[in-house]
Amino acid sequence: MLFALSKMQQAISRRVGVTVGASSGRVALQVRCMSRFTEVAQAPPDPILGVSEAFRASTSPSKLNLGVGAYRDEDLKPVVLSVVKKAEGKIFNRNENKEYLSIEGLEGFRKATVDLLLGAGHPAIKEGRVAVIQSLSGTGSLRVGAAFLARFQKGAAVYISNPTWGNHRNIFGDENVEWKYYRYFDADTVGLDFKGMMEDLKAAPPGSVVLLHGCAHNPTGVDPTPEQWNAIADLCQERNLLPFFDVAYQGFATGDLDKDAFAPRLFVDRGLEIMVSQSYSKNLGLYGERVGALCMVLKDKETATRVLSQLKRLARALYSNPPTHGARIAAEVVNDKELFDEWKAEMRGMAGRIERVRGELQRALERKYPDKDWSFITRQIGMFSFTGLTPAQVDNMTNKHSVYMTRDGRISLAGLNSAKVEYLADAIVDSVRNC
Ligand SMILES: Cc1ncc(COP(=O)(O)O)c(C=O)c1O
Repeated sequence: MLFALSKMQQAISRRVGVTVGASSGRVALQVRCMSRFTEVAQAPPDPILGVSEAFRASTSPSKLNLGVGAYRDEDLKPVVLSVVKKAEGKIFNRNENKEYLSIEGLEGFRKATVDLLLGAGHPAIKEGRVAVIQSLSGTGSLRVGAAFLARFQKGAAVYISNPTWGNHRNIFGDENVEWKYYRYFDADTVGLDFKGMMEDLKAAPPGSVVLLHGCAHNPTGVDPTPEQWNAIADLCQERNLLPFFDVAYQGFATGDLDKDAFAPRLFVDRGLEIMVSQSYSKNLGLYGERVGALCMVLKDKETATRVLSQLKRLARALYSNPPTHGARIAAEVVNDKELFDEWKAEMRGMAGRIERVRGELQRALERKYPDKDWSFITRQIGMFSFTGLTPAQVDNMTNKHSVYMTRDGRISLAGLNSAKVEYLADAIVDSVRNC
């Protein structure tokens, strides 16, 4: 009997993951204490979002968070734009329902988003050859794009700049889309390695995808000039490369929405088909609302119709329907002339504050450490400065001075104010001199 019970115990344990015991003549089932997920390894913290977690945990009174790319006002507080509050008021008064949006998203939002990208009345819009799907901000739009490439451009590798925003690798990698680097940043000139970039893209097999930052390159703050953009477009045409623009900072590079859309508009006007992910996180401050879109400008309306049907098919399985609230806000702001003008003024204000602290930081560093050339700080544009600090110097910035930043040496100037400029400059000088 005992022997039979032990055999039975083992068999049940193996098959259903429970331990069977005999006590006081009764058979007891005991659920195993060990999880079936014990083999799951701890994932490393995200290199960007992990910085904010470390910042929150710090008790230093002088701590400074220059890690995450989110705008702060002069008191270093998060900002809700005045146009967003006004739009929310209007939406509230309309007392709209909370039904599902269609898979492709809110109609007014989709129109607004394409208008922002190409300019209202652009021929590609009139010809109906833009496929646009509202998605989960820039990240979700990139992911839908990656899923589309995985399914319909099988085997094509995506070329991403070195360096780039850290999540690009995850997004394409998690869709099993092969990604490769092209050279982008020249540490000696603290500028664009245009020659290296062109060489690498020339060597990419025809049909490859090239991920390009539409403006305000993250993390370097270094963008191609208009002439260089033209040469990149030439190359894409000659080599049959598919440009995929990541437009996460429209309005943040120059404070002007149209100027910041120069590159994707140029490519479309030159007859190229392009993919574009767009985000309202930064320019409308809608970070947590997850508002964005994937746009594909295509050769003709018929292709756009088919492509959109497949984008919807992919989105349906990923998250089904996009969120309503943020899309209503963006549509309200962009489609209302008065709010739109007010938004542009607020955006100029945000871009202007960043530009001002850039200048202040450069001047402070020039005063404290005149032997080094700091002019790159005001040559770079957008939210970030790529300081050239090494990982050891970054560790010193964080451990000794409680300045939290990513280990690639990037600082978000949106997290800096005039009052903290001297403190930051001292920390940088100490790190450069002593580490
Ligand atoms: C280059 C780049 N692309 C895309 C994103 C995506 O942001 P979100 O998903 O909040 O729109 C970011 C955010 O930091 C970014 O820097």
